[in-house]
Amino acid sequence: MAFPVGFGWGATTAAYQVEGGWDADGKGPSVWDTFSHQGGERVFKNQTGDVACGSYTLWEEDLKCIKQLGLTHYRFSLSWSRLLPDGATGFINQKGIDYYNKIIDNLLANRVTPIVALYHFDLPQALEDRGGWLAEATIESFDEYARFCFSTFGDRVKQWITINEPKMFVLMAYEVGTFPPGVPHPGTSGYQAVHNLIKAHVRAWRSYDSLFRKEQKGMVSLALFAGWVEPADPNSVSDQEAAERALAFHLDFFAKPIFVDGDYPEVVKSQVASMSQKQGYPSLRRPQFTEEEKRMIKGTDDFFAVQYYSSRLVKHQENHKGELGILQDAEIETFPDPSWISLDWVYVVPWGIRELLKYIKDTCNNPVIYITENGFPQGDPAPLDDTQRWVYFRQTFQELFKAIQLDKVDLRMYCAWSLLDNFEWTQGHSMRFGLFHVDFEDPATCRVPYASAKVYAKVIRNNGLEG
Ligand code: NOJ
Repeated sequence: MAFPVGFGWGATTAAYQVEGGWDADGKGPSVWDTFSHQGGERVFKNQTGDVACGSYTLWEEDLKCIKQLGLTHYRFSLSWSRLLPDGATGFINQKGIDYYNKIIDNLLANRVTPIVALYHFDLPQALEDRGGWLAEATIESFDEYARFCFSTFGDRVKQWITINEPKMFVLMAYEVGTFPPGVPHPGTSGYQAVHNLIKAHVRAWRSYDSLFRKEQKGMVSLALFAGWVEPADPNSVSDQEAAERALAFHLDFFAKPIFVDGDYPEVVKSQVASMSQKQGYPSLRRPQFTEEEKRMIKGTDDFFAVQYYSSRLVKHQENHKGELGILQDAEIETFPDPSWISLDWVYVVPWGIRELLKYIKDTCNNPVIYITENGFPQGDPAPLDDTQRWVYFRQTFQELFKAIQLDKVDLRMYCAWSLLDNFEWTQGHSMRFGLFHVDFEDPATCRVPYASAKVYAKVIRNNGLEG
């Protein structure tokens, strides 16, 4: 199964999850520093990202892993508050610039293409204190930060992600309330945050387009999380409609405005209105874009970055009492098929990724697609011989091959989550997604490859699967 010539094989990390050095060399606190320091079991065993994988001081060890795998691409994120401790360019932390310059230069010297995310859940605390993603001013701050990054690193970085998984972030931060700012706000806040995140992406993309593109010739997009869904009963019209609604809330919420026509999906609009009525919320809970904003939003993409982990069955539930969710999709119950392999929230259904890719192709005008995250966790302790996990990776690659060959999906890259075991947000170190094992008691000791890392290296060498 040979993949197309030039297919990209990468791995992904994110600043807070790997760097550590939370207050080193002038870095300002991010919301995750504040949140994880508050204790109270908000994070598994009150673990923090203070040290994480130690990548701030152990970058050379990470580079060895990248070279050992033979990656063509490495996706990482910049810590906004390491570069701009207060979130604004009034005070720039040169040590932060030096750190990311080293990473970018080392990658390029080893013929690894950097893909850089500007924002991966870690807002500078200074901006959260001024309203965070519920404040319009944060859109302006994000644009300022993005322009700063494009002008500082854009001579060498040609693939940018503005915002990582805005949907998952909003769900966890403003609805479930288990990510900072950590207060569940049933009602309007989630929708306001979605609105501002979309506008922030648009501002950054437009800044790149007008100020940097001509000279730097790079590409900018955002990375969207999406699980695949199937109706629990394929013969039930209400389950089919519920599955469509779930996808609209999962993916189209961001994909349709940006990739298709500048506006939210109709099904989201009508569902929010009808649930608002049923649950007695004021009807105007979801902000709306003006016609001018719609024109500015449409087409602010240079590729489609998607992140897939698992699939769900979807069942319609009449008069479901749950809060209308950004993701929870009132009147919908979601659950896995019992035959799927699972660990915690990840249900492994490799064919789900093929369905998802086809859906994106069909609904978003056949875009160039990058899978910027996909993976499967192990619990802790995680066996180095992770044969079971490799079965999953292998099946996934087979499905990608079919998507390219049979469905003619324009898939150009796959990035595994993650290069290293890391700080898995509220699950701390209890879920290990790495291709390399990290000892969190002493991250300096070494990074040890799981069996999957060795086989992934072979796939990369062969640009595909054998047999
Ligand atoms: C997606 C997120 O971007 C990443 O931060 C997280 O660790 C993985 N999913 C696994 O949950």
